[in-house]
Amino acid sequence: MKRIGIMTSGGDAPGMNAAIRAVARKAMHEGLEVFGINYGFAGLVAGDIFQMTAQSVNDTIKRGGTMLYSARYPEFAQEEGQLKGIEQLNKFGIEALVVIGGDGSYHGALRLTEHGYNAIGLPGTIDNDIPYTDFTIGFDTSVNTVVEAIDRLQDTAASHERTFVVEVMGRGAGDIALWAGVAGAASDVIIPEHDFDVKKVAEKLRASREAGQKHAVIVLAEGVMHADEFAKELSAYGDFQLRSTVLGHVVRGGSPTARDRVLASEMGAYAVELLLEGKGGLAIGIQNNKLVNHNMLDLFDAKHEAQLDLYDLAHDLSI
Ligand code: F6P
Repeated sequence: MKRIGIMTSGGDAPGMNAAIRAVARKAMHEGLEVFGINYGFAGLVAGDIFQMTAQSVNDTIKRGGTMLYSARYPEFAQEEGQLKGIEQLNKFGIEALVVIGGDGSYHGALRLTEHGYNAIGLPGTIDNDIPYTDFTIGFDTSVNTVVEAIDRLQDTAASHERTFVVEVMGRGAGDIALWAGVAGAASDVIIPEHDFDVKKVAEKLRASREAGQKHAVIVLAEGVMHADEFAKELSAYGDFQLRSTVLGHVVRGGSPTARDRVLASEMGAYAVELLLEGKGGLAIGIQNNKLVNHNMLDLFDAKHEAQLDLYDLAHDLSI
């Protein structure tokens, strides 16, 4: 194997650049030539591919987003799209690839492996919703961004004795809400993986107010419902001086934390090692602080589990 490609696919995540850098530098260190593929699978099909040098990734580790751009490209599920992509791989002499993205991106990576082009997947998404990895690249940064926002909301909530409902991204997963809720001392955390009862949330708020705690921040995962809807339901049970805030894509940007940079660097280098061993169709993860790899097919049948002990903790520690 002489030439490998790298792409980012699906929603961007902070730390993707650190992963690209690690793949590129490790591969060059091992004597490989590296090609960047812009815009994920869409760019592969369009032949938007360029040769990278060690300098291409200079000064990128600290930057959010992805220098290779990203796109969602469902057309790659069709054989026609795959064959066009393979035509481009052949044109550039690329024999294997690293795909950085969510598990949607792994389907394309697996198809390429089945066609004889080994592909390794790195979990790049803020949602932390990929099975067989404790953490995804970008999750830590997004949690820190949400915590910073909660801290600010706590200040203004306290000044006006208000209750804020803050909606955070995560798609169908509650991990960002859970971690940020615990770290931001939220009075309640509402996630898709756990039942909730608006009436009970209201009762708790009323009890806190009566006990002297007159402001609150409730963290709501977007997979449950919209913040406005939730605030409306809550307001039926009393006047809690409600305000809602949707953090949206703000949570996806920003310079990656040291933790995300290190995770991305470790995973990127490991992906190159696996390719050099002639392996493909594998998804990299970190479990109990150790790098692991699993067959992508196993991931498609598995489900990411939320850390429900954190859910209990968030509720036990709030008043
Ligand atoms: O998967 C990352 C994510 O940011 C989710 O948290 C969110 O639901 C979704 O992507 C938003 O997608 P888009 O950027 O296409 O609006």
